[in-house]
Amino acid sequence: MKKICCFFWVIFFVAGCKTTSHTNSALADINPFQFSVQKKIIGENGAVVSAHPLASKVGVEILKQGGNAFDAAIATQLALAVVYPNAGNIGGGGFMVARTADGKLLALDYREAAPGKAYRDMYLDSAGNLLNDKSVNGHLASGVPGTVAGLFAAAKYAKLDFKKLIQPAIELAEKGFVLTGREAESFNGIQNDLKKFNSVMPVFVKETVWKTGDTLIQKDLANTLMRIRDSGQKGFYEGETAKLMVEEMKRGNGILGYDDLKNYTAKYREPHVFNYKGYTVAGMPMPSSGGVLLHQMMKMVEKRNLGNLGFHTVQSVQLMTEVERRAYADRAEYMGDADFYKVPVSKLVDDNYLEERMKDYDSTKAGSSAVIKPGKIKESEQTTHLNVIDKEGNAIAITTTLNNSYGSKTVVGGAGFFLNDEMDDFSIKPGVPNLYGAVGGEANAIAAGKRMLSSMTPTIVLKDNKPFIVVGTPGGTTIPTSVFQTIVSIIDFGLSTEEAVYKPKFHHQWLPDKIFVEKNFPEQTLAALKKMGYAIGDREAIGRTEVIKILPDGKFEAVGDNRGDDDAEGW
Ligand code: DON
Repeated sequence: MKKICCFFWVIFFVAGCKTTSHTNSALADINPFQFSVQKKIIGENGAVVSAHPLASKVGVEILKQGGNAFDAAIATQLALAVVYPNAGNIGGGGFMVARTADGKLLALDYREAAPGKAYRDMYLDSAGNLLNDKSVNGHLASGVPGTVAGLFAAAKYAKLDFKKLIQPAIELAEKGFVLTGREAESFNGIQNDLKKFNSVMPVFVKETVWKTGDTLIQKDLANTLMRIRDSGQKGFYEGETAKLMVEEMKRGNGILGYDDLKNYTAKYREPHVFNYKGYTVAGMPMPSSGGVLLHQMMKMVEKRNLGNLGFHTVQSVQLMTEVERRAYADRAEYMGDADFYKVPVSKLVDDNYLEERMKDYDSTKAGSSAVIKPGKIKESEQTTHLNVIDKEGNAIAITTTLNNSYGSKTVVGGAGFFLNDEMDDFSIKPGVPNLYGAVGGEANAIAAGKRMLSSMTPTIVLKDNKPFIVVGTPGGTTIPTSVFQTIVSIIDFGLSTEEAVYKPKFHHQWLPDKIFVEKNFPEQTLAALKKMGYAIGDREAIGRTEVIKILPDGKFEAVGDNRGDDDAEGW
């Protein structure tokens, strides 16, 4: 194995002297009680980058055992459901953008759907006021989970038996793994919510504090995963697991029912594909706004010589802010599940329309969201991202989520997994901001069976028809702007992959009318932006971007974000 490991970060823990004895499983060579985080690798045969070292390692083991990138991505996501429970999930949903070895582009939608009993004003009282946090916390917040259906749909392109792909997750849940410092801290932070939103206390509740190196064993989750292993998709959407979910709903006055689960389907859709300076960009179509937003933002800068303006200069940040503002204004007005609402996609990405949107762009002063509205169409903090690539030419970008950290905070009693709070991604009342400050209206109003608008932006950039950049990130509404900035950092500003991932990011989403910046953003640029009339707000970490870049010699350079325990593996 030839690899270049640029950074070794924290080395984790040995909890007692436990070692693994999982022969025949992808876990055989992985020790869940002692592992380190690796931020970068250059692989020759394949690479995986995800939010957790154990999940990335599982993915690479699957590649080594003859799996392709689809096998590895499925196994990695299932492992994340165990080792990264705040976002890795089986109770949430996600999107996959992939390019197959024979050159086909795929977009898989396994986004949660509103339950059959959901209705437009379900989070409003009779006077039309918001019912506090019901779209975010507890039983009423959950859409029908899509992840398990999504993974079985992805398995169509995999080579190995699904049983083999789920086995590492089962073992990690059954025998346990040690917590990183971040995870221990994160568990400590949700103790009150866990007690509040669960009547059957989950294993995450602890009377003393969680510490780095503590072992987490999840027997109920292991049993749920075994039912999926033994009965396939039905092991989740029907039978015992469905019963446990519906019973959980009854305990908390939720509305998710047997039919919602049984009828859920993951959908292959046409990927949203466009050209940028000779590169082909493949992104997610509705119900994710990601592909269209990225298209709009990149086209609005394409002819404006971004590279010449310089990275993080006032000129480039101002231009990018103004395109972000305009794209997000359109998101609020026009975007939603296209199976339910006619989203004018071709108009929104029309070159003339986008030029028109930039007509009032002034490079000397701040635009205003009170003045710049959605365009006129002449007709009617937690998610997680992973990338996998193999030497056959398969490349995969998956972003998956429970929405908020730990979703609704409700764990299905006896089944051991968190349910999502994705209902909050609908526009629950026109003009009222959701968790991420996003506003919306009719296009994204709640309706039974409809999928809530997402910002998740798993993306593959192709050069000469071959994968060049595989990218994505969590971060709610900041996702499309982070992906936008990462891609232009590489293509236009000529940054290295690490710089493109690690350098501070900024974000503007039309409303609120403010540029949010991460710490360490160049002070001089901020001062000049303020002088032009921009309001600046501070933000904690923006996203946790994962990138695999294909180098000119064909090797895979995988970089995990340093904003978390993100880890790159390869061989
Ligand atoms: O689908 C969406 O856009 C959101 N539910 C994503 C949430 C998210 O990224 C939270 N992570 N930081």
